[in-house]
Amino acid sequence: MPDDTNLLEPHAIGQPLARRDGERKVRGTATYAYETPVDHPAFVQIVQATVARGRVTGTGTSAAEALDGVLAVLTAGNAERLASTDDRELAVLQSAEVAFRGQPIALVVAETSETARQGAELVRVSYAEEPHDSELRANRDDLYKPEKVNPSYETDTAEGDVTAAMASAPVTLDRTYTTAMYHNNPLEPHATTALWDPDADVPLTLWDSTQGVHPARAAVAEVFGLDEEQVRVVCPFVGGGFGSKGTPHAHVVLAALAARALPGRPVKLALTRQQMFFLAGYRTPTIQQVQLAADDSGRLTAIAIDVVEQTSKIKEFAEQTGVATRMMYAAPSRRTTHRLAALDVPVPSWMRAPGEAPGMFGPEVALDELAGQLGIDPIELRIRNEPPADPDTGKPWSSRHLVECLREGARRFGWHDRDPRPSVRREGSWLIGTGVASSVYPTMRMAQSAATVRYEDGRYVAEIGAADLGTGAWTVLPQIAADALGVPVGDVDVRIGDTRYPMASVAGGSSGTNTWGSAIVVAAHAFRDKFGGAPVPGDEVTGDVDQAAKNDAHASYAFGAQFAEARVHADTGEIRVPRLLGVFAAGRIINPRTARSQFVGGMTMGLSMALHETSVMDPRLGQVVNHDLAEYHITANADVTSIEAHWLDEDDPYVNAMGSKGIGEIGIVGTAAAVANAVHHATGARIRDLPVTLDKLLAALP
Ligand code: MOS
Repeated sequence: MPDDTNLLEPHAIGQPLARRDGERKVRGTATYAYETPVDHPAFVQIVQATVARGRVTGTGTSAAEALDGVLAVLTAGNAERLASTDDRELAVLQSAEVAFRGQPIALVVAETSETARQGAELVRVSYAEEPHDSELRANRDDLYKPEKVNPSYETDTAEGDVTAAMASAPVTLDRTYTTAMYHNNPLEPHATTALWDPDADVPLTLWDSTQGVHPARAAVAEVFGLDEEQVRVVCPFVGGGFGSKGTPHAHVVLAALAARALPGRPVKLALTRQQMFFLAGYRTPTIQQVQLAADDSGRLTAIAIDVVEQTSKIKEFAEQTGVATRMMYAAPSRRTTHRLAALDVPVPSWMRAPGEAPGMFGPEVALDELAGQLGIDPIELRIRNEPPADPDTGKPWSSRHLVECLREGARRFGWHDRDPRPSVRREGSWLIGTGVASSVYPTMRMAQSAATVRYEDGRYVAEIGAADLGTGAWTVLPQIAADALGVPVGDVDVRIGDTRYPMASVAGGSSGTNTWGSAIVVAAHAFRDKFGGAPVPGDEVTGDVDQAAKNDAHASYAFGAQFAEARVHADTGEIRVPRLLGVFAAGRIINPRTARSQFVGGMTMGLSMALHETSVMDPRLGQVVNHDLAEYHITANADVTSIEAHWLDEDDPYVNAMGSKGIGEIGIVGTAAAVANAVHHATGARIRDLPVTLDKLLAALP
């Protein structure tokens, strides 16, 4: 790996350019999947199972079919047989089996969305109900070890002897921490407009709200037994995804099934907000046993995390909660394990920073507790355990500036005035405290993506099937293309969000800009090599993401430090967080304006995880009972006073041609621990169970 892979002379990169899609969004002319203009659309409503486990014994559709305006009612009895049912989340309307409450068991297509909804209510379903099991507990006797954890990490790791280290160390900690179940709630609900035109060259078109048009196309083509060339997926704009649109869920297949039942007639399907709590994935709750052993100076001799979490019976998703503990801190003895309970529940999936977001809660609170036991400042404790190389792989870091983030954050936040004793600051009825935690996210680049660079009408155009979830791809990809071509960014257009453009990887794992940008750089350099500085209209080159430049010699991660101030009302336990401050080292920042939104957005979601969000599973029903925005609380404007995101100028020559590390997810990592640590500092009450709410605090208040 040469040291000169950071190939670009930045001119456009680093500029705080405004969003190119901003005006269209503000004016309402940016079309989202559901509002795609199509001729004479029909509307789809999903009928959901009202038992958590069993079989459908009868589906009475005659009343729905008799309703004026109903065009079709599809059930497991009459829906087409899918070519592949391997992915049982996507194998909808294929059998009578009910695997979770809320599972789609029929759909109604009608002339209007109102009629479709009315028709769905007229479908009469009878069940042979069976006992269900929807309760996650650490002491279940049926926990199992998955073969891998998302996406392909080892399930367990072990080095040294944690048990022996725990027995012999002067200072130890052994605690259990829990994180809640969380549901992604992007502003734009999941939606698909679908058209099946059997006579067309590309018979199936899906305008789908997705984090990746090509991955969505591949999944749908497989389910229907179509060639990928027979499917087009279009998605220029996404109103948020956070991972819930990173893989197609059942509704995409349902929309396509409805379209295929009505050839030539476009159909529209949008999940309701309530349906999103059954059908769009969620983050599993986690139970984390954390063990730390340290010498008197605070050097860790052991660190371990043993995680219990859930998956669904029909499809495994194993959140990689333990992986951050493998690489964050130096300790000669280390252990990470993951065990799953397979339950009669909806299918879990990706939510912003799967693994790191829950997995940095327990350990980062545990370190705060250990710092208290040792009488060492929690920043200093982390600095004393800074590993010179990746403890997991032994590889050198491509760059690691966690210590600098902690120090810069401490300076900006005013950490040095802090009295380490808990529950000593008080203003009137408010107890005040501050807390810190580290952030981390792996720097990823996907193996496949391609881009075309063309010269037309006096402008350069880069085409790639990338997705902009609201993150800024429309804006930053031209910046990368402009620097790779050596032209002003105003001379460059991009076209994204359509499988007609070259293949692009999913907008997931904070890898989008790294991957698509790498492909654009290859294409742009090839374009210059081929056509020089004076291209003529029509000149065009397609380039693939450069596998030769893939960095396997280093461990590459972005790091950060987050600081929180908490105010807790001494009488009511009400918690306010007037200040959050993060400092990140995430490689070169392509666009400070869109980057800041990503960091601040992640931190806001982390605040939400700390104080507000929790999906309440009622095991008697096998259902999340607070399945709407009235009862599933998300941090909103009034909860946020000051959130500051800063970053270091970090030059990483190894990660990719841009020197970028990915910023979409790291902002949510560590926030909840920083807030919980601040609440402890304010009150002396240690809450190890997210979210931190007043009912958990009240009994422990001074
Ligand atoms: Mo993100 S959870 O990698 O889409």
